[in-house]
Amino acid sequence: MQRSKHEETGIQKGNLEEKLSLFSDHWNPRIIGELNGQHVKLAKLKGTFIWHQHEKENEMFLVIRGELRIEFSETTEYLREGDYIIIPAKTQHRPVTEEEAEVMLFEPASTVNTGEKEDDFTKNRLDRI
Ligand code: NI
Repeated sequence: MQRSKHEETGIQKGNLEEKLSLFSDHWNPRIIGELNGQHVKLAKLKGTFIWHQHEKENEMFLVIRGELRIEFSETTEYLREGDYIIIPAKTQHRPVTEEEAEVMLFEPASTVNTGEKEDDFTKNRLDRI
């Protein structure tokens, strides 16, 4: 893996397609990098997530493949490949996809995927790939 080569220098390098080929489950983000207290994550999404909010963390989604909508209490935002969205803290939101979508997430290392809610979707420990 590239990682071992770069461990001494702290340089992190990778390839999205390769990383995305390493997992297939939905709503289970993987950590692919870290900088300034933020994690860079990849996730595959399909179906309807739960309504939640993050108390302190703003959350960014970048769509790599597929389509995704983020429902808010007053509005819905539709995202296609290449689109990104930044969701402010304390904003109720619910990601929904009809078909599988692949996304990159940027958020503080403290962020839990289901925010203030704890349920079957909650992933407190994420794998690094
Ligand atoms: Ni969220």
